[in-house]
Amino acid sequence: MKKLNIGILGYGFMGRAHSNAYHKVNHFFDLKYQPILKAVCARNADNAKAFAEKWGYESVVTDWRKLIERDDVDLIDICTPNNTHAEIALAAARAGKMILCEKPLALNAEEAEKMVAAVEKAKVANMVWYNYRRCPAVVLAKQLIDEGKLGRIFHYRAKFLQDWTINPDLPQGGAALWRLDVKAAGSGVTGDLLAHCIDTAMWLNGSIDSVSAMTETFIKERKHQLTGKVEKVGIDDACAFLARFSNGSLATFESTRYARGHKALYTFEINGEHASIFWDLHDLHRLQYFDHRDEGRVRGWRSIHVSDGDQPYMKNWWVPGLQIGYEHSFVHQVADFLAGLADGKPARPDFKDGLATDYVTDAVLKSARMGQWEKVKKVK
Ligand SMILES: NC(=O)c1ccc[n+]([C@@H]2O[C@H](COP(=O)([O-])OP(=O)(O)OC[C@H]3O[C@@H](n4cnc5c(N)ncnc54)[C@H](O)[C@@H]3O)[C@@H](O)[C@H]2O)c1
Repeated sequence: MKKLNIGILGYGFMGRAHSNAYHKVNHFFDLKYQPILKAVCARNADNAKAFAEKWGYESVVTDWRKLIERDDVDLIDICTPNNTHAEIALAAARAGKMILCEKPLALNAEEAEKMVAAVEKAKVANMVWYNYRRCPAVVLAKQLIDEGKLGRIFHYRAKFLQDWTINPDLPQGGAALWRLDVKAAGSGVTGDLLAHCIDTAMWLNGSIDSVSAMTETFIKERKHQLTGKVEKVGIDDACAFLARFSNGSLATFESTRYARGHKALYTFEINGEHASIFWDLHDLHRLQYFDHRDEGRVRGWRSIHVSDGDQPYMKNWWVPGLQIGYEHSFVHQVADFLAGLADGKPARPDFKDGLATDYVTDAVLKSARMGQWEKVKKVK
C-alpha cells in the first residue's frame, strides 16, 4: 500500500470523526493507499498534544502555515470553523497538497469560487465532507432513483431540526460556540444544516434553479464568549425555503435550532410518479419505500433494513442484519476518496460540488433579505 500522509487541522467534533475514519478504513476496505496520521495542527499546543497521543498522530504543529510547508505531509484535512477554510485551502493548493475540507466549503460562494480556481490550477485532489451521501440507506435511495424506480419526481421535502440554542443566555463565539457568531460561521442554520440537505438533494434530484426563503433570528443579542460584550446576533436561527429543481419538481426545505425535542432530525422524503422514499437520520440504516406498482392487497410503506451484503457498502462490514452508524459515513468517504486516487476517478462531492451548494445557500440568504424569489447561479 502507498502511504498517504495526513495533516489535520482542528481536533473538535470533526477532527475526531475524520481521525476515526483514517484509522478504520484499511481494516474494512481493500485499498491501494493507507492514511498515515502525520501531524495535527491546533492553536493550543497542550490540547493538540493530548489529541495526538489519544489518536496516534506522530507530531503536533501550532501554526497551520508550518503544517502546509512540511514535505512529509501529502494531504491537508480542514476541520476548523468555516471562516478559516478558504485561507487554508488556498495556501494548501499553492503548496500542491491534496485537500479534504469540511462543509460548508466557505463562508460564501465568492470565497468558494476562489477555492475551486485554486485546486483546479494546482491540479490537486479535493473533496468536501458532505458525509450523508455515504450513509448506505441514502446511497440505496440514489440507486433506486437512478434506476427509474420512482419515475418522474414531483416533490422533494427536507428538514434538519435541532433545539440547542433556545436558551437566550447561551453566549456566541469562541470554542464550541463559533456557530452562533456570523463572522466565524458565515450564516446560521442555512450554511450549517441546510447545506447538508441541499447537497444530498442535488445529488439525488439534480440542480436547483430558484429559491424563495424566509429566515428569523429569534434571540437578537448574545454575549460574545471572546469579547465578553453583548453583541448583535448575525446568524439565521431558522430558515425555510421553497425551491424549484431543474427537473420540474417542487421542494420545501426547513431548518431550525428552536424545535424543542429534536437534536439532529435530518429527514427527506421524495415523491415520484411510481414510488416514494423517506429517510431519517435518527434511524439512518433504514430506508422507507412505497411502490404503487406492488400488488394492491400488500401495498404499503416498507421499512428496508439496509444491512445486507448486496446493499451499498455493507459487504465491507459485519454479517447481514447487523447495522452500522453515523461514524461509518466518514469511513466510507475516506474509502471512496482513496479508491478514486488509485483508479483516477476522483470521488465527489469535490470543491465544485461544494461551490454549487454555496450558490444555493447564498441565493437562499439573499431571497430572505430581499423578500423575493432568487435564481441560483450554476457552476461553470
Ligand atoms: N460533515 C458534518 O456532518 C459536520 C459536522 C460538524 C461540523 N462540520 C464542519 O466541520 C468544521 C468544524 O466543526 P466542528 O464541529 O468540528 O467544530 P469544533 O468546534 O468541534 O472544533 C473546531 C476545531 O477548530 C479549532 N479552531 C481553529 N480556529 C478556531 C476558531 N477561530 N474558533 C474556534 N475553534 C477554532 C478548535 O480549536 C477545534 O479544534 C466546520 O466547518 C463545520 O461546519 C461538519
